[in-house]
Amino acid sequence: MEIRDRVAVVSGGGSGIGRATVLELARRGARVIAADINLAGAEETADLAGREGGIVIARRCDVTHTEDLAGAMACAFEHWGQLDIVFNNAGIGGEDLFADDPGPWQRIIEINLVAVIDATRIAVREMRRAGKGGVIINTASMGGLLPMPDSPVYAASKAGVVNFTRSLGYLAAQDGIRVNAICPTFTDTPLVRRSGDERVEEVAKLVGGILQPEDVAAGVIELIEDESRAGAIMRVTVRGGRDYAREVRPY
Ligand SMILES: NC(=O)c1ccc[n+]([C@@H]2O[C@H](COP(=O)([O-])OP(=O)(O)OC[C@H]3O[C@@H](n4cnc5c(N)ncnc54)[C@H](O)[C@@H]3O)[C@@H](O)[C@H]2O)c1
Repeated sequence: MEIRDRVAVVSGGGSGIGRATVLELARRGARVIAADINLAGAEETADLAGREGGIVIARRCDVTHTEDLAGAMACAFEHWGQLDIVFNNAGIGGEDLFADDPGPWQRIIEINLVAVIDATRIAVREMRRAGKGGVIINTASMGGLLPMPDSPVYAASKAGVVNFTRSLGYLAAQDGIRVNAICPTFTDTPLVRRSGDERVEEVAKLVGGILQPEDVAAGVIELIEDESRAGAIMRVTVRGGRDYAREVRPY
């Protein structure tokens, strides 16, 4: 899909990978809703885009609330009459599976997986209604393809996103709606900096380096523009650059 003159909704658009993607989409002539639970972050993104001549609306949205997701997508139609691209990217980490309180791990599943399913569901219904097709990109992680002993629930949430996305590849032929996922490796964003700079250096050494949010945004742009790979899972790594996870052939 050509990006110029399209309309996009980006969740988690107030920071990190989401912000870098909002800015890149706006540079390429898309109009974007930066949706984030952190409205101040989304407003900062909109401001940064505006300084470069981009058109971005900041909107508060908790992706775990169906009405917030639906509201963000309705906002695209209200302002610009269309919705072409949905990037389901909001996500969290930071689990302690064996702690007393199960709340934190459950929240990871709610935000990283349940909300991605809900947002995809709403986006498909809206795009079907508009009848012009569209592109939905879901943020998974290399942790969705590999075990993560330190973060098993995060890994499970992202593996869920991977197989959910693969399972919807058929929508491209049926409705002209392409669903893809992106699996970045370790990326330098506030999400990973929360564990401290020393830990970031340690992990970066372990996994062979650290990506910048702009590297991941470039992958998202490629996925939006490349019409040929419905349901495909793009990997983004420091060593390997951008490539695709092997497709699973069941028979
Ligand atoms: N940073 C990495 O190493 C890395 C690697 C692979 C995948 N990812 C994934 O990339 C995505 C973006 O993460 P990031 O690294 O840019 O982190 P980040 O913390 O910089 O950005 C995440 C954004 O999501 C928002 N958010 C959190 N909960 C929300 C909710 N309930 N509703 C709406 N917005 C919410 C936050 O406010 C924040 O602005 C996540 O899905 C993450 O799992 C990150």
